[in-house]
Amino acid sequence: MSDAVAQQIEEQEPEVDLSLANSVIDKYIDLPGNLMPVLQGVQDEYGYIPRVAADLIAERLNVYPSQIYGVLTFYAQFHLKPRGRFIIRVCVGTACHVQGAPRIVETFFDKLGIGHAETTPDLRYTFEKVACLGACGMAPLAMVNDSTYGSMTVQKVAEIVDDYNQRPLK
Ligand code: FES
Repeated sequence: MSDAVAQQIEEQEPEVDLSLANSVIDKYIDLPGNLMPVLQGVQDEYGYIPRVAADLIAERLNVYPSQIYGVLTFYAQFHLKPRGRFIIRVCVGTACHVQGAPRIVETFFDKLGIGHAETTPDLRYTFEKVACLGACGMAPLAMVNDSTYGSMTVQKVAEIVDDYNQRPLK
C-alpha cells in the first residue's frame, strides 16, 4: 500500500476495537482457505476493513499484508474506509438516466455535500452511483440501505435527506 493511500485511510479511521476482529479470526483460523471468510466477517463487524484489522489478519493468518491489500483492492465488495450509516445509491442505468437520474444525482451531491463514492465526515451518509438495480419500471430509482425509492424527483431527494437526517446514527 502506498503512503498516500495509507494516510488517506488513517485520516478517516476511528478508533478500532480489535477484539471483534480477533473473534472472527478465532472462528476461522484452523480452516483452509480462511482469508476470504475472515475478511468478510471482519467487514460485517466494522462495516469496512480497518487498516489495523487488516494488519492483524496478516499477522494471525501468517500472510503478507500485500496479499491482503491485493484481495481488498481487487474485490469491489470490500471497503477500506469507514462507510456511512446510510448508504444512498442512485441508479444511473439507461432507463434511469433517460428518466432524469443525472439531476437526482446532482441534487443528492448538493444536499449531502459529497460526491460519488464519498462519505460525509459525520459518517451519516455514503453516496454511490450504481448500474441498473433491476427495477427499471420505477425509474429513476434510488435506494437508502435496503429501502427502495422509485419515480425519484428533486423534491423526493429533499424529503429523503430530511427524513434520514432525523434518524439516529447508531
Ligand atoms: S436502469 Fe435503473 S433500475 Fe434499471
